Amino acid sequence: PNRQGAIETLRYGARAIARGAEVIRAGGLVAVPTETVYGLAADATDARAVARIYAAKGRPSFNPLIVHVRSLDEARSLAVFGEAALALAEAFWPGPLTLVLPRRSDAPIASLVTAGLDTIALRMPAHPAMRDLIMAADRPLAAPSANPSGGISPTRAEHVASRFREGLGLIIDAGATDAGLESTIVAPGPPLRLLRPGPVTAEQVQAVLGAVPGEAGARIEAPGQLASHYAPDKPLRLDATGAREGEYLIGFGDVAGDAQLSAGGDLVEAAARLFDCLHRADAAGSRAIAVAPVPAVGIGVAINDRLRRAATR
Ligand code: TXA
Ligand code: MG
Repeated sequence: PNRQGAIETLRYGARAIARGAEVIRAGGLVAVPTETVYGLAADATDARAVARIYAAKGRPSFNPLIVHVRSLDEARSLAVFGEAALALAEAFWPGPLTLVLPRRSDAPIASLVTAGLDTIALRMPAHPAMRDLIMAADRPLAAPSANPSGGISPTRAEHVASRFREGLGLIIDAGATDAGLESTIVAPGPPLRLLRPGPVTAEQVQAVLGAVPGEAGARIEAPGQLASHYAPDKPLRLDATGAREGEYLIGFGDVAGDAQLSAGGDLVEAAARLFDCLHRADAAGSRAIAVAPVPAVGIGVAINDRLRRAATR
């Protein structure tokens, strides 16, 4: 499948899914879109396949992975669901919410997936390509975002293809992803905590549970919490109202730039475009990147979270 070092890419469809399932069952890696970002999927029950994810990403092995499941039943065979966890799954699955729950001791998941923790991160994705792949492979799939460790998450197949030259068996291309930001990560607890802000907002979680999720503790529970993450190769300046010499400006609302998150000031559109704009800025001839201010309300909280980490070097 790998011709001249390039990774095989197939447009999403029956043939791509059949080929993807074949790669997964053989212990290989498949880049596949979800509604958030493209994931790098492997058989979560196969330790060697999971090890290949860490190798391909150059990811420190203590960072645990999210397991993608087809159904609530499958999720409950892997983790212990309390009342709050069930309420959240009912409200937001399938969709961009990951739950960190106590792992069942009999869960047939490679321990490398959870990096030795006694908790497991689970999510039921909504994107038909990821759902089809889980069904066709007939097993839960471990999948981090399909970028080299620490880099910008991919929202298009081209982002994956440009960052990986080898190590992947297949890229399934279904165009740009919807949400554009990684899933919200919640530990229902008690205590209820928001480990990573994302498309499902803290307000939405509060509306379901009647409680406000606490901030994650000082201990790093999700590397998405690392100060420097999602980083482009160039320095990045925040809250820019104009471009300085040599800067590529990413605009928002009234601030017009070389690329635009959302000319109309729409935060959902801005989230969907954020990583694509950062990839473009990185590829452009400029020395540095500047980004216009984005209001920290609703999904704007998650956008600002990713921007702060992208700006930290
Ligand atoms: O939207 C998403 O969540 C994407 C798509 C592909 O599903 N995946 C994704 O995976 O963003 P990744 O590996 O880039 O981020 C997973 C995050 C990491 O910050 C990891 O530390 C955290 O989930 N995580 C995984 N298992 C955990 C656990 N048991 N406890 C706390 N955090 C955990
Ligand atoms: Mg990631």
